[in-house]
Amino acid sequence: MNPRSAMLPRLDVGFLILSSVLLVQGSTTSSPKKSPAAPASPPARPPSPVGDLTWALGLRLYQAIRSEPSSVNMVFSPLLVASSLGALGGGSAGTTASQVQDLLKTPSSSKAGAKIGNLLSAALKSFTDANGTTFHLHTSSAVFSKQAPPVSKAFVKDSQDKFRLQHQPMGKGDAKADLKQLYAWAKAGLGGLDGAPVEGEIKAKAGALILANALRFKGLWEREFSQESTDRRTFLGKKYTKVVMMHRAGLYRFHEDMENMVQVLEVPLWGDKASLVLLLPFHVENLDRVEKLLNPERLSKWLEKTGVTSVAISLPRANISSTLSLQKPLSALGLTDAWDQKVADFSGVSGKSKGKLHLGGVFHWASLELAAEAGKGAAVEENIQKPKLFYADHPFIIFVRDNATGALLLMGAVDHVEGEPLHDEL
Ligand SMILES: *[C@@H]1O[C@H](CO)[C@@H](O)[C@H](O)[C@H]1NC(C)=O
Ligand SMILES: *[C@@H]1O[C@H](CO)[C@@H](O)[C@H](O)[C@H]1NC(C)=O
Ligand SMILES: *[C@@H]1O[C@H](CO)[C@@H](O)[C@H](O)[C@H]1NC(C)=O
Repeated sequence: MNPRSAMLPRLDVGFLILSSVLLVQGSTTSSPKKSPAAPASPPARPPSPVGDLTWALGLRLYQAIRSEPSSVNMVFSPLLVASSLGALGGGSAGTTASQVQDLLKTPSSSKAGAKIGNLLSAALKSFTDANGTTFHLHTSSAVFSKQAPPVSKAFVKDSQDKFRLQHQPMGKGDAKADLKQLYAWAKAGLGGLDGAPVEGEIKAKAGALILANALRFKGLWEREFSQESTDRRTFLGKKYTKVVMMHRAGLYRFHEDMENMVQVLEVPLWGDKASLVLLLPFHVENLDRVEKLLNPERLSKWLEKTGVTSVAISLPRANISSTLSLQKPLSALGLTDAWDQKVADFSGVSGKSKGKLHLGGVFHWASLELAAEAGKGAAVEENIQKPKLFYADHPFIIFVRDNATGALLLMGAVDHVEGEPLHDEL
């Protein structure tokens, strides 16, 4: 007899015993008091970060950016970076193409190309479709070309349709004029917000392609932080500042990793189309220690372990903005040939032979607003008991993930919150 089939009956018995235990537990724990907010069945969870290319790229890029000592307060969209690189990768060939593919590949999926493109395109659509209900979003992506041969119409159409990446010819002027054009573009992309200037110079040589993303995001909570429950408190960041803190107690998915001394909180945005995930060290410290813990596996584990808990949340009202030049971090992750005029092969962009085009820069403007407002809907009553405290008066890490696809829409570090500086009183 096949040993496997011999085991089956025993498994069945085990299953029966297990289900009867559950029945007994169910009847003894049902309390006469009904909690109105307890969901009948837990809602389906979005796909895990493990195996998702936006998380894989986002976390690696995050570490590379944060290894620069100057990185204070930063936010970026792994989904936008991945999509724009995906578009450019589609117009490249040879080692230039394989380096882009390696960057976008997740350890568990070796299939590159069309499949990755479709995944990113679907996630982008899911993201932009939730604009106006789950969050307020402004976003633009463009590839600028400087004194380049005409860009292939097929490339422009494909990258616009699939990845919302537009083509913009750069003016004939000098570096200063290029910068002016980029800033004006970024301001429009941010819905009228002035982005911070790019660090260092931009020297676009003839034949340079410059990739740019702009994104401004303001989430609308599923349940609002009321205006009455705000006050002024101290934020213990790089500098100590007086800031406006928002407070709310409710039922949230929450986990405390006692070993690593990190709190994990997931706060849904309106309509559950996306959520904010916050990582807060137990004690006041800079983010170095927690950042070293970040990888897709640990984040998946943390998110799996979150359970619906009474939590009293205190969050600063803040705008977190950054302008990032991604050439160094992307090079550190293995994207090297694209920048080299001699070896870069973007023949699919120009429709001509290699050596005519190269990547001259990748710039990323992003801004995330933490505010009190929720989306439109009836307030729910919640049965809160002995809430855990999630008191974010010190640096924390933020993720925004799309519910339907699981994609990482945004990731950021809050090292500091702008406010009136606190002086030593003695
Ligand atoms: C959230 O995602 C899960 C899993 O993909 C899905 O089953 C659920 O319906 C989604 N919720 C909403 C409100 O879209
Ligand atoms: C989101 O909606 C606002 C208001 O309707 C609009 O101004 C903005 O361009 C939209 N964003 C995107 C990415 O479509
Ligand atoms: C964040 O920026 C928005 C838009 O510019 C502004 O209305 C809001 O007051 C700012 N919030 C804080 C805390 O500075």
